[in-house]
Amino acid sequence: MKKTDLEALLKDMSLEEKIMQLVQVPGSMFEEDAALTGLSDKETLDKFKALAGSTLSIYGVEKLRKIQEEYIANHPHHIPLLFMLDVIHGHKTVMPCPLAQGATFDPEVARNGAKVQAKEAAADGVHVTFSPMADLVRDARWGRVVESTGEDAYLNGKMTASMVEGYQGEDISDPNHVAACVKHFAAYGGSMAGRDYTDVELSEGTLRSQYLPAYEEAIGAGAKLVMTSFNTLNGIPSSGNKWLMRDVLRKDYKFDGVLISDWGAIAEMVNWGFAEEFKDAAAKAMDAGVDIDMCTEVYGGNLAALIKEGKISEDLLDEAVMRVLTLKNDLGLFEDPYHGATKERFDSVVLSEENRAVALDAVRKSLVLLENKNKALPLKKDEKIAFIGPYADNIDLRSSWAISSNPETTVTIKQAAEEAFGKDKEIRFSNGCQLLDNDTVLGFEPYHSDTWEEDNNKLMEEAMETAKWADTVVMCLGEHVFQSGESTSRVDIRIPAVQIELLKKVKEKGKKIITLLFTGRPLVLDDIPEMSDALMICWRPGTEGGHGIMDVLLGEVSPSGKLPMSFPWSVGQEPLNYNCFKTGRPKPTEGNTMFTSRYLDCPNEARYPFGYGLTYSEFEISKCELDKEVLKKSDKADKITATVTVKNVGDVDASQTVQLYIRDMAGSRVRPVRELKGFKRVFLKAKEETKVSFEIKEELIRFWTINNAYESEEGTFEVFIRFDSMTQNSEATSFRLE
Ligand code: GLC
Repeated sequence: MKKTDLEALLKDMSLEEKIMQLVQVPGSMFEEDAALTGLSDKETLDKFKALAGSTLSIYGVEKLRKIQEEYIANHPHHIPLLFMLDVIHGHKTVMPCPLAQGATFDPEVARNGAKVQAKEAAADGVHVTFSPMADLVRDARWGRVVESTGEDAYLNGKMTASMVEGYQGEDISDPNHVAACVKHFAAYGGSMAGRDYTDVELSEGTLRSQYLPAYEEAIGAGAKLVMTSFNTLNGIPSSGNKWLMRDVLRKDYKFDGVLISDWGAIAEMVNWGFAEEFKDAAAKAMDAGVDIDMCTEVYGGNLAALIKEGKISEDLLDEAVMRVLTLKNDLGLFEDPYHGATKERFDSVVLSEENRAVALDAVRKSLVLLENKNKALPLKKDEKIAFIGPYADNIDLRSSWAISSNPETTVTIKQAAEEAFGKDKEIRFSNGCQLLDNDTVLGFEPYHSDTWEEDNNKLMEEAMETAKWADTVVMCLGEHVFQSGESTSRVDIRIPAVQIELLKKVKEKGKKIITLLFTGRPLVLDDIPEMSDALMICWRPGTEGGHGIMDVLLGEVSPSGKLPMSFPWSVGQEPLNYNCFKTGRPKPTEGNTMFTSRYLDCPNEARYPFGYGLTYSEFEISKCELDKEVLKKSDKADKITATVTVKNVGDVDASQTVQLYIRDMAGSRVRPVRELKGFKRVFLKAKEETKVSFEIKEELIRFWTINNAYESEEGTFEVFIRFDSMTQNSEATSFRLE
């Protein structure tokens, strides 16, 4: 529809019709088995159903076509309904969770995965996905780390911008694409105490330099929607934060798309004590520029009165409604309310070999090898191998956010192992123990089994027999799928105690032990590394998890993943991030010195640092060479080229991720000990070497200065190019900005 036609439509709409375009009702209003991702009062919202502008958490092309047909027929102006869904890392073909995608350090993985997700979801009737999550996360206690790409602003920005491009393509009216919604704006990952829905206290310097850049990059990639976050930022709830939404989002980031609240977030301003009643909350949210109220009665029940009383202008309402109508128009819904979705199209794309291949590639690149003593991996096919643990034959390798997918389509470890070893090679499997300790609080109610003890004893006995038979045991352990995700914060970030007991008992058999950990967050590992000959983080690998893991275990491909978040020694270190400040009394690298910044009972550093991950080969890196030592601040085109020689000195072909870190030696605000400013994956055959170069321009070293501006400052900068954020495997070099 032309813009002039949209404007004419807006003019012709009644006040009620316009207000209802800003109301989103839960999918359960339209069908019983809608996914539930928030708390809503169905009775109250029922009156909004007929004219609500959008709904969420329902999918299924035939169902949605029928709902759309009826909705449009009953709507006074036949305006189409928007269908939104959390397609976070997979609709039917489930990619590795976003944290695992962060571990690939490969934006192409994020882009290709998002393309597959969009193709399947769009064919199933979905118009908008509530993804990517661009929240920077430093606290592994927070269950939603699983949905992030980790603790680094630079990595998060590259990954989330690529996801937006993958979801939206060139034109969101294309039936293979959906509109992307960047969330949770802003700084939800900084939630106090690592819990959901709490407060975030950040200086503007840290907010602008660390927490906001990934949102800006994802919005810069053209995201059509942004979602407000549940948290307060320095005492102001995001959904009522006019500075954040109008000055930063709309003005600084030039965002002119749809701003939707998170589930109930506008109403929750009353709980926060930021609004005395829903009417006050409605006024504050409209003033901040929030366009859609997700699943509450605040807008639907109060905007008409506020306008009649002159408390908010009808122009403000029209502005918001026009953004919603424009989104529907960009999707082409006025011409085709079904966005090209048909059963035939869905059947032709869902879980296709092409889609599975994209998922498989992502799994292979996401696995992070933390230990490999005496080259315990890759496995040799002549070993007597047993797979023991609750993930040895577990179909649920997704994250708790893969709400529209079917775990039955997952390739398990067992299936992949049987395929790989074939019928003539005996391998054995045992679940080994219960996945969870009894009475673990989980999801909507605690997990409990009256026969937990006897069942567990049986599993353990059988596992001991299996372990006795084997030469090599692959332990398949990890968190429960619902021990990460929304509302799953934990203060004990270890795998269940019963699984540690299983590992200890198997260890007593004296066999070679390969430990695989399935997790949606960094874990405290205690003595798991000491008990394992090899240790690999598998995250939540999704539909092709079994195949990807087996390919790496058998050496079809070397592991190449790198940690997107620091793994701590103790949960007491959380929040933990590599790019911290040196402090005025830095703890010396050796020893534990009085009057320095230290713990008496724990190292300061991560046990396994950001950017760390082994391959099956060995790599060397030369000292970094700079083609000049001065970068001109005044010349935006000026650049320094930093080059290293990387050599695969081992006997296995492998990929390595070369990482560029820069340290600003002094600034008008103190600066981190180092910051990731570039990364490149290089594939090298055994004994091959190559040069890897990075361009350093003035824009790369900007930060939020004392002038409250994002700018660079003259001075000295150290350059480290290495294979992770901590290991000193090459000398630093320095340059000056003048
Ligand atoms: C949830 C989540 C948000 C999600 C939304 C819709 O509460 O916070 O990430 O997109 O509701 O399901």
